[in-house]
Amino acid sequence: MRLHTSFRRILGAAAAALLLPAAAARADQPKIRVGLMLPYSGTYTSLGVNITNGFKLAIAEHGGKLGGRAIEYFTVDDESDPAKAPDNANKLIKRDHVDVLVGTVHSGVALAMAKMAKDTGTLLIVPNAGAGDITGPLCAPNIFRTSFTMWQSGYAMGKEALREGKKTAVTFTWKYAAGEESVDAFKEAFEAGGGKVLKMMALPFPQVEFQSYLTEIAALKPDMVYSFFSGGGAVKYVKDYAAAGLKAHIPLYGPGFLTDGTLEGQGEAAQGILTTLHYGDGLDNPKDKAFRAAYLKAYGSEPDVFSVQGYDSGQLLAAGVEAVKGDISKRKELIAAMEHAKIDSPRGPMTLSRSHNPVNNIYLRKVVGKENKVIGIAAPALADPGRGCKM
Ligand code: BEZ
Repeated sequence: MRLHTSFRRILGAAAAALLLPAAAARADQPKIRVGLMLPYSGTYTSLGVNITNGFKLAIAEHGGKLGGRAIEYFTVDDESDPAKAPDNANKLIKRDHVDVLVGTVHSGVALAMAKMAKDTGTLLIVPNAGAGDITGPLCAPNIFRTSFTMWQSGYAMGKEALREGKKTAVTFTWKYAAGEESVDAFKEAFEAGGGKVLKMMALPFPQVEFQSYLTEIAALKPDMVYSFFSGGGAVKYVKDYAAAGLKAHIPLYGPGFLTDGTLEGQGEAAQGILTTLHYGDGLDNPKDKAFRAAYLKAYGSEPDVFSVQGYDSGQLLAAGVEAVKGDISKRKELIAAMEHAKIDSPRGPMTLSRSHNPVNNIYLRKVVGKENKVIGIAAPALADPGRGCKM
């Protein structure tokens, strides 16, 4: 049947009128306010920058919008200073009224953020800090982590060291939650399998006067040293370790933070170091290849593990917001979608544990040239025990 032209016009206008309010409402939707609280100064600067880059890349891949709503960023430099954390988080929560808080690198700062998120109900995505309490006693429906716990890589390396035939070890780290939990996890696995930790040494964060500790390590003559340092501090530590003449006699091991994003600065001193981490070079899965090419194109530099964690934080937020079509007032649905998200991560498949911490492979990596080459899986699909989490 052919419709009369004027009737068709009326029909068209009616259809347009029906569609218009929805379209207009969509255009009017406020932006989703994302607060990035990360270190943009100090020893962890490059970590904060790379997390930011990764997060923004994930959002850009969604056309800059999630569930039809544009994203607006608010940024605070947390300086990796736990004492300033409550004030800094308040700038984003109370002043900028962010819908979601993304941060941070330093565990001491992130612990303060998690306490505030728990008290205020603000949605929090932790893109790095590994303190167990964040997804342990402080766990909450609105608190998610896309990175790791220090336990995961430390425990995996304890087991790996036994496989390498090591019998004695010294641990050395920065004295704060991340470092202490990393060396404790190493010790837990190493001693459970018959190894012996001769001494646990630590210096205050972010000090880098390593010399007297290196002298003591030489005197103790362990089979190996396990160390957590990261960022600028890790560059200096690995170089000082080699310059002290220890590298050839007492091999240095650690969680992958020791050599990730740092190889340019560490150069020859890092060659051959074995580390454990949830990401590495040469994974060669399609997602990693695409991610690395997109990151290089966007920023002109190679991504590292911190870029991946930022990217996956963006992917996790996208999974939640898209599921509720941008209506983030649908809290329960938003959180359920994030909890059950199966993230196609550059690290390989990633899901979240009951306490909202990633479950993923922990790879064994070896420094070869400018790469942390994956040479095996130290612990497949390793989940943190989430001790103390009641949710
Ligand atoms: C932390 O403080 O949790 C941390 C910092 C740098 C690398 C890894 C963990």
